Amino acid sequence: MATIRLGDEAPNFTTETTEGTVNFHEWMGDKWAVLFSHPKDFTPVCTTELGTVAKLKPEFDKRNVKVIAVSVDDVKSHQSWIKDINETQNTTVNFPLIGDESKKVATLYDMIHPNASDSMTVRSVFIVGPDKKVKLTLTYPASTGRDFSEILRAIDSLQLTSKYSVATPANWKDGDDCIVLNSVPDDDIPKRFPKGAMKVKPYLRITPQPNK
Ligand code: BEZ
Repeated sequence: MATIRLGDEAPNFTTETTEGTVNFHEWMGDKWAVLFSHPKDFTPVCTTELGTVAKLKPEFDKRNVKVIAVSVDDVKSHQSWIKDINETQNTTVNFPLIGDESKKVATLYDMIHPNASDSMTVRSVFIVGPDKKVKLTLTYPASTGRDFSEILRAIDSLQLTSKYSVATPANWKDGDDCIVLNSVPDDDIPKRFPKGAMKVKPYLRITPQPNK
C-alpha cells in the first residue's frame, strides 16, 4: 500500500456493494467520483453523514459526480444499517456502500491510520476526476463529521480550474471572482478573459468567474 498523492491514478478495485458488484473505474465511467470512508456501521456520526450525502445527491448529480462510501463491515450489515439511516435521517440512501470486511479498499487507499485506530477507517475523502486521477484528498478523525457543502464547493473549484487558467481564492464560492494564474501573461488577458482583470499586484489579478 503506497501513499496516494494528488495527481496519482486512483487505485482501481472490484468489490461488493449494496448496489451489486462494482469495478470502481468502470462504475465511474466518464464522471467524477467521491470515494469516502466511514469508521463503522451503526455509529452516530456516520449515520448523519450518509443521510446528508443522500439528501445532497441532486447537487452531486448536477456536477456530474458519483458518490460511493466505504465502511469495514459487510454488505448485509450495511443493508440493515441503511434502514436506520433512512428512518432517522428522513431520506433514502441512493448511492452504493462498499462492503469492506476484508479491508481491501481501506488498505488500498490507506484509510486505516493505526495511531487513530487499528481496526476502523478514519474519515477519508478522495475526489477523483474523469481521467481517474486523484484531485483532492481530505482526512478527518472519527469524531469529526465532515462538511459536505465544503466538498461540493471544492468540486466546483476543481471543475472550474480544470477548464480555465484560474485559481480560486480563500472562501471562494461558485459565482465569486477568481484569480488569473501567474502563467498567463498580462498581454493575453483580453483574449483569454474577455471580462477583463483587475491588477491588484503583478501576481494578484482578479477576474470575474469565466464561465458565468
Ligand atoms: C461515529 O460515527 O459516530 C463514530 C464512529 C467511530 C468513532 C467515533 C464516532
